[in-house]
Formats: sequence, C-alpha cells, structure tokens
Amino acid sequence: MTETHATADDRESTTDANSDTGRTRAAVGTPPPGPRGLPLIDSTLAFALDPLEFLVSIREYGDVARYEAFGREFVVVSDPGLVEEVTVARDDEFWRGEFEHEFSDLLDVEGLFFAEGERWRQQRMLLQNAFTPAQIESYADDMVEETVRLVENWSDGEVVDIREAMSTLTLRALTRSLFDLELGDARADRVRRWVHAMGAYSDNEFFGTRAVLPTWLPSRAEREYRRATADIASLVDDLVAERRRSDGEGNDLLSLLATGEYPDGSRPTAEEIADQLQLFLLAGHETTATALTYACWLLAADDADDVRDRLEREVDSVCGDRDPTFADLRDLAVTEAVGREAMRLYPPLPFLQREPHEETALVGYRIEPGTTVQLNMYGIHRDERWWAQADAFRPNRWLADDENGRSVVADPDDRPEYAYFPFGGGSRHCIGMRFAMTELKLSLATLVRRVDLERVTESIDPTPKVSLDPGPVKMRVRRS
Ligand code: HEM
Repeated sequence: MTETHATADDRESTTDANSDTGRTRAAVGTPPPGPRGLPLIDSTLAFALDPLEFLVSIREYGDVARYEAFGREFVVVSDPGLVEEVTVARDDEFWRGEFEHEFSDLLDVEGLFFAEGERWRQQRMLLQNAFTPAQIESYADDMVEETVRLVENWSDGEVVDIREAMSTLTLRALTRSLFDLELGDARADRVRRWVHAMGAYSDNEFFGTRAVLPTWLPSRAEREYRRATADIASLVDDLVAERRRSDGEGNDLLSLLATGEYPDGSRPTAEEIADQLQLFLLAGHETTATALTYACWLLAADDADDVRDRLEREVDSVCGDRDPTFADLRDLAVTEAVGREAMRLYPPLPFLQREPHEETALVGYRIEPGTTVQLNMYGIHRDERWWAQADAFRPNRWLADDENGRSVVADPDDRPEYAYFPFGGGSRHCIGMRFAMTELKLSLATLVRRVDLERVTESIDPTPKVSLDPGPVKMRVRRS
C-alpha cells in the first residue's frame, strides 16, 4: 500500500526544458497515487469521520496523493516546496476553486477571502490600509484591555470554557480595534450565535452523515443558520449606517468600507460592504480564538511545567508589575514560541484549497481542472522529516540565544520555509497575520501575568469546522 515519495525519474517529465521561466507546460503525467476508498462513496466516509487522521495517513501515498470524496477529485500536497510552488511561484495558475466556492455559497459568506482576479486586488489594496504596522500598533492597547476585562470577571477556582472565553475576547478586541466600536454584549452574542450556527451547519453538511447521504430537505441546522445569517445581515447594516452618520474617516476597517474608495476610484457597493464586514467578523476572531485556546490548553499539560516556568519568567522580566504593551512585543520571544508551537500542532485552518485554471502538473503528476488541490498544512506541520518529536508540544524548538544570552525566535536554515505556514503564503496570505500575532502575544502575556489555568477537560477532539474546533475546553482559573 505504501508508495515511495515522488522522484522526478518516476514519471514522465512535464517540465519544458526549453522554457527559461521554469513553468510547467501542458501536463502529460500520470495521475497521483492514492487510496481507492469504498464503492459509491469513495473516501468520503474516511475523510468525514476523521479528517485530521486522513490528512496524516494519506502521506503514505507520497507528497502528492489523490482521493475521491463528496463526488469530487482531490489531490493532497504534503511537501513544503510544492506548497510554496502553488501559493507563490505558480499562484497565477490556481484559484480558490469550485469546492471552496460551494462552501461560500452554502454559507452565504463572500468578501475578500472568496474574491478573485481584479476585484480581489482592488479589495485587498483598500483593506490592507487597516493592517499597516502603525494601525496594528494603535490596536494593541485595546487587545490588552479586553484581555484584562475578561480575566477580571473570573473568580479564583471558577471553571470556564476557554474556547468560549477566547472567542468573546477576540470578538470584543476585533470590533473595538478594527471597527472602532464597542459592540456591547447583546450584539456580540448575536455574532457568536451566528458563528455557532455556522459551525453546526457546516459540520452537518460537510463532516456528518449528510456528507455521505445527501438529502434535499433543509436540516434544522440549516434553518437555524439561515435565521442567524439574516440577523447578522441586519446587524451589519446598522453598523454601517451608524458609521456613516458619525462621519468617521479613520483608517479602521469599518470606516474604510463605509466611506473609502478602491484604488480605481470606485466605491464598495452596499452588498460588498455587508459581505466584507461579515467575513471579517468571522475570520478576524474565530481563528485567533482557536489559537489562544490551544495555547492555554497545551500550556496546562502536566509535562509543560518547564515551558510555563520559562514563559512566566519572561513575562515577569519584560513587564514587571504592569500589563504588556506594543513596545514589549520584540522581547516576548518565549511567548511567541508558545503561540507558534500551538499553531504548528493545531493550525486554525488545517488545510488550504486551490484549483488549477487549466490542466497542469505537480512534480510530473497530472492535475485536471476541477480537481481540488489540498495543501496539507496539518500533515506538514506534523511531519517528522521537518519536526523532531513532531507530535510533542516543544516551544523551545523555536528559540535560540542571541549574543547577549537573550532568547530570540529563530527558524533553522535547514528547514524549508513552508514546513510551517499557519497564515498561508503568497499573495493570498492572511491579511490579518500581523494583527493575529500581536493579539496572540499580548493576550497570552496578559493572561500569564494574571492567572494560572488548570485543565478540567483532559482530552480534546479537534475537528475542522469554521476553524479547527477543539470542542468545549473547560479550565479552572487560579489567580496568580
Ligand atoms: C491565528 C489567527 C489566524 C490564522 C491562523 C489565519 C489563517 C489564515 C490563512 C491560512 C489564510 C490563507 C488562506 C488561503 O490561502 O487559502 C488566511 C486568509 C485570510 N485571513 Fe486569516 N488567519 C488568522 C487571523 C486573521 C485575522 C485576525 C483576520 C482579520 C482581522 C484574518 C483575515 C483573513 C482574510 C480576510 C483572509 C483572506 C485574504 C485574501 O484572500 O486576500 N485572519 N488566514
């Protein structure tokens, strides 16, 4: 069953030797190897039952492997160099693809994540003004204040669901900083209800029995999701109307959308504004909340005492008796290493998807149009070729000492760059990466200064939903 990894000699060459661009010409290779799956439902059941295990085990077939599921053809890419090829060097050959768009149609979510071509470029250029280094710096205090507000509401010994708590925190921080508004608990609850309904609905459609046995009757999850989506659409309309009335001209995202224009001089339409706000409400808080949740949970493991000690010593020496600030970020190397390692083990988006515009090839294997290329982030992040003790939580692997003996974050030269890519790569890399890393570090450092968290939930069962959902994660709060 096991195939050796692809080598250039195994297959017909598809690289045009005369081409000085190094681009691959019309593909002529063989299809990649892969599991056969069950008759009629192919590998749908294997993927639906345990997608993460499926992504790890499919590496047996090589760095490029194919399978069929959901009535579609998939090719899984598990080599960092090929991920870089698809997202950077050859990104104009690929788009997000029909499968991703089916997902966006199903969920009725559009915006920057799903835009393509010139429309995407115009949107990205306008919206990136909300993510400049100066803008991120101006958001830092909001992130810390929202973390303090959360922690101050906890009492010693209380058991909290960290997954929910981190979502509340990141949603409040997002709307306060990026939208320049206090959402208020009632409105924040409406957003959380929408995200929950989305998780339940996508779980049901993609990863549950309905993935295998489709039915044309709307499920209860779908009806609830449609109701929550209508509610969010009206919330978003209110937010835009309020911002327009206030004549806000800031560089926060809401003002850019409500009052700004694209580089070509056109203005976002009412529909585009609503789409972007919904997308950012989702993408801007759910992923970071997931990363923070795993970081807290991993830090509370019995065998993580040394990591916790090192982290506490760092935060103590950098911050002393005050909360962290933006200026502290460069000195919070251990904090950053904890965040990085949590996202290595549990990347909030565990695989990325693309589709070739035309027939093409990857290391000689033919990839037909209509094939969904899955960039296997989860599998690559846990591949022993790049990571010693790949399944272990070892933040120290990210750390080295500088000439003054201070801890710094260092990436070894001999590891391929795309052995770690939690924020994607190339032109479609995460627009919120700097925002997310700033929040991750500042919130973690603030939490560490103020509380210890002990595990109540002993084991988790991560499932890809809107992001890599750990399920409920109960932890007991101990005030430091
Ligand atoms: C730890 C937190 C986060 C992680 C791990 C993460 C991960 C990612 C990844 C992997 C992509 C690329 C997807 C692809 O290439 O297919 C992406 C795109 C995106 N992310 Fe994030 N993200 C995070 C936080 C954020 C935040 C805070 C925001 C907004 C405030 C955001 C907004 C977006 C948007 C709009 C895109 C689409 C960009 C485009 O297509 O031009 N993300 N994210």
